[in-house]
Amino acid sequence: MAILEVQQLRAGYGFPVLMGISFEVEEGETAVLFGLNGAGKTTTVHAIAGVKKPDRGSITFDGEEVGGLAPNELVRKGIALCPEGRRVFPALTVENNLRLGAWTRRHSHGEFDKAKELVFEYFPVLGDRAYQMAGTLSGGEQQMLAIGRAMMSQPKLLLVDEASLGLSPLLAQSVFKAVNRINQSGTTVIIVEQNVGVLPYADRVLILEKGTLVFSGKGKEIRSADLREQYLGGTASRDGQRRRGRATTRSASKSKPTRTPRKRPAARTRKRAARGKTKS
Ligand SMILES: Nc1ncnc2c1ncn2[C@@H]1O[C@H](COP(=O)(O)OP(=O)(O)O)[C@@H](O)[C@H]1O
Ligand SMILES: [Mg+2]
Repeated sequence: MAILEVQQLRAGYGFPVLMGISFEVEEGETAVLFGLNGAGKTTTVHAIAGVKKPDRGSITFDGEEVGGLAPNELVRKGIALCPEGRRVFPALTVENNLRLGAWTRRHSHGEFDKAKELVFEYFPVLGDRAYQMAGTLSGGEQQMLAIGRAMMSQPKLLLVDEASLGLSPLLAQSVFKAVNRINQSGTTVIIVEQNVGVLPYADRVLILEKGTLVFSGKGKEIRSADLREQYLGGTASRDGQRRRGRATTRSASKSKPTRTPRKRPAARTRKRAARGKTKS
């Protein structure tokens, strides 16, 4: 059963960004949303989490229309967003950062402790650092804390926006593995990524180009080399880290994306993409 159905979603900032995208995510899946900087990935997850109001279209979560609801209402319904840029509160301890993620359950100490213990199971390093200031954690640990904080509301759907940005390939993998454990314990996950290293964990792959979904299919229907060459500019190395100074920073992502013209994909791979497009 689809836990999330997005239909003809349009959103923008005075200019159109999402051009009417439609996709479904099944309960228990990990869906990965790929695309270059500026493609509209963040706008998509912001619309699902209520941070960005859609202009048109519908978002159905758990059988209920939720498009346009406020973020706090959506957290209560079971949608949690771990935003781009791992924003933790540096002057608060790890534990207090987690406490802020548990505001929907603040009436109960027992529930806070239960959710916290679960986060420490996913990310044991956070348990070791519970009383350390978040600002003194490494980049990878801060990312884990940001995801852990989103998990404190015990969501049914977790949205993770570019968790691997700026992390070493090894750390990126350990973050993907932890998100995979979260998924295996029953949480549906949507991961926004440019790093093809996440592909082994993808049940479903969605690819956005300039606000349009150009591929939607099963994870095993797409090879990481094709994904890299055709859709992610072809300059990313195996682990997805950029080599040629392509814009990957947050500030750069707000400017117009610079794209090197890419070769026309081979007929075989074009067909495969076209086939994938009709599946959902
Ligand atoms: N708050 C905003 N105000 C105006 N334009 C924005 C804002 N956020 C994003 N954009 C623009 O919307 C487009 C898509 O951005 P975004 O969804 O962040 O893409 P991605 O996450 O795929 O990099 C870009 O052209 C970006 O510059
Ligand atoms: Mg983004």
